[in-house]
Amino acid sequence: MKSQRIAIAGGTGRIGRHIVEGLLEIKHRYSLEIIVLSRSQSPHISYAGTSAPVLPIDYQDLSSIQKILNDFQIDTVISTLSGTTSDPFITSQENLLRAALSVPSIRRFAPSEFSVNSEQVPSVELYQMKIPIIRSLRQVKQERPDFEYSLFSCGVFMNYLGYGNNKPEGHKAHGYMPHFPYIFDLSKRSADIPGDGEKQLVYTRAEDVGKFVAAATQLEAWEEYNDVAGDVLTMNEIVRLCEDVCGTKFDVKYNSREVILARLGPPEKVMENFFAEFLLALMDGECDVKRPINLNELVDVQPMTVRQYLEQWWG
Ligand SMILES: NC(=O)c1ccc[n+]([C@@H]2O[C@H](COP(=O)([O-])OP(=O)(O)OC[C@H]3O[C@@H](n4cnc5c(N)ncnc54)[C@H](OP(=O)(O)O)[C@@H]3O)[C@@H](O)[C@H]2O)c1
Repeated sequence: MKSQRIAIAGGTGRIGRHIVEGLLEIKHRYSLEIIVLSRSQSPHISYAGTSAPVLPIDYQDLSSIQKILNDFQIDTVISTLSGTTSDPFITSQENLLRAALSVPSIRRFAPSEFSVNSEQVPSVELYQMKIPIIRSLRQVKQERPDFEYSLFSCGVFMNYLGYGNNKPEGHKAHGYMPHFPYIFDLSKRSADIPGDGEKQLVYTRAEDVGKFVAAATQLEAWEEYNDVAGDVLTMNEIVRLCEDVCGTKFDVKYNSREVILARLGPPEKVMENFFAEFLLALMDGECDVKRPINLNELVDVQPMTVRQYLEQWWG
């Protein structure tokens, strides 16, 4: 059954806000009710001539979560929570699920994935904290076959390719994503590639992820995996596209495993380690496409390709 009353946990954040906007775009067409859950008081989120209220929530207090989901008769919870430590990230998502399951109207749950499927990348330590909720969801599905969950995977947000562009409204290239380059720094005409560059990279623009997730809520049934892609290219193909659009050769560094391993620091350097581990995962083919990119086929969303994105911000 299609989603009708949808709660986005963490919808004030980065990909969360793109998903909220994707939903607000279709809110009137499908008569949706959309609420955003946040740990703090925030003004409602307005987009496309409509809005979604932001409701304060304490992820450590099951009854408060339950009350909000029950008050709004929520049928679908989409988690876009984030964190750099396993606690409170794991408990927040688990509590959200446990509270949701006690609400009679609940039928669907999407945990915070929105990257490469976390079970696919054992090299990436930070993503291991996303796995317990997947196990819990599989358990719930066994006990309640009518309950649906889906893991949304989209690869890396294409928006990082916009870093340093000089277009008049160049900040819009990032969407709500932070501004920094990853692997490709077009402002320096350089690339920092793991291995020989022949492994795949899935790129999807964050705005398109929002549209895909919103469209998926209107599917009659959810598959376990909802994979989307704006593009699937090898890193060498991306270099060639960058050079073509920028009209100049790039300074491309191909890094050996030893060079990348040397970037790993002490455990408290969470993000530095994450970026290095993700390079190792790419090098090892862990991020290569493993399943059909099914959601592209199931919904009518035309995502931006890497060439289109580069031409918009670097052409
Ligand atoms: N594919 C990619 O390139 C890519 C890039 C970045 C992130 N991601 C993925 O996208 C997902 C969301 O990441 P994001 O960067 O969009 O997140 P974010 O903006 O950093 O955080 C999302 C929201 O989560 C809530 N939050 C943060 N810490 C929390 C905690 N400890 N407990 C409960 N809630 C917490 C916050 O909402 P309130 O303060 O309003 O409660 C925050 O606004 C993650 O799964 C991440 O791995 C993918």
